[in-house]
Amino acid sequence: MHNGTTITQFIIEDQRRIEKATGDFTSLLNDIVTACKVISNLVNHGALVGVLGAAGTENVQGEDQKKLDVISNEVFLKSNEWAGHLAAMASEEMEDIYAIPKQYPRGKYLLVFDPLDGSSNIDVNVSVGTIFSILRCPEECKSPTAADFMQAGTEQVCAGYALYGPSSMMVLTTGNGVNGFTLDQNVGEFVLTHPHMTIPEDCQEFAINASNMRFWEKPLKRYVDECLAGKEGPREKDFNMRWIASMVAEVHRILTRGGVFMYPLDSKMKSKGLGGKLRLMYEASPMSLIVEQAGGMSSTGRERILDIKPTGLHQRVPVILGSRNEILRIDDYHR
Ligand code: AHG
Ligand code: MN
Ligand code: MN
Repeated sequence: MHNGTTITQFIIEDQRRIEKATGDFTSLLNDIVTACKVISNLVNHGALVGVLGAAGTENVQGEDQKKLDVISNEVFLKSNEWAGHLAAMASEEMEDIYAIPKQYPRGKYLLVFDPLDGSSNIDVNVSVGTIFSILRCPEECKSPTAADFMQAGTEQVCAGYALYGPSSMMVLTTGNGVNGFTLDQNVGEFVLTHPHMTIPEDCQEFAINASNMRFWEKPLKRYVDECLAGKEGPREKDFNMRWIASMVAEVHRILTRGGVFMYPLDSKMKSKGLGGKLRLMYEASPMSLIVEQAGGMSSTGRERILDIKPTGLHQRVPVILGSRNEILRIDDYHR
């Protein structure tokens, strides 16, 4: 039996510090937490409840959807549409924004999410997650459009992820540090287990999909080559490498023991007219806020990700994030 701070208690106490907080935000976060618990339960039961495998459909980005991509999206919409805190939602799995159905009241927040991140890992029983970002709806947000979502990452009111791994966790920031909560399956509550998560400034571990090496730009190639050269190379130390193919799990590792995660822009993407692999609004931006709040850095190699003003819901950007001194070095190589 746990005796710690539940996520609900934590959020309420966090909001008490803010003058004029109406309770709207606290209640919205609670609905998000509920959605993540439902997804966690589905992921845990996997084949027992028939949720593995392909959905047989494609999303707006031309990616094959898994059954759990579609189901998790639906869970998020249903958990968050009714309470009156949101003006609209947007997700990886929907081309356009999702307007709040007429029968429900509208609120002042916008919710953007990647309902299931790392979905190539679902069928092989490897960690997946959910990423979300909360924005304030601009003034006069009576009938919101995609344009209302086009806010730089610095404008986020809250960013978080749920990680469905050996244990399920929720990691959150409201711009005042990063805290991690572990789901007690028996009680059904996320409990504060990782207060004030911080990323060490230095590290000896990097993550990149090295199968794309031949397409990388020179600065990135140089950085990875130097890491691979180890003790005998210019860095004079050995580096370890990891690639889980779930950004959530990758960022969680970095929050736990430091490291660098890179999904750079490469010539293959460029030739397809893409700006990168990962999506700004529901992958790069929320993860960048979490990483920065934990003392790390996040960049495209050329600019701070949180400063980018989005031009589309599904815009893609290069992502290079993690331990501060490594990101400074990679940025430097790009100059
Ligand atoms: P999603 O499952 O939401 O489409 O995201 C997958 C992302 C990210 O989580 C991961 O880092 C990356 O794509 C993996 O890409 P590769 O398969 O190219 O390694
Ligand atoms: Mn994703
Ligand atoms: Mn996804």
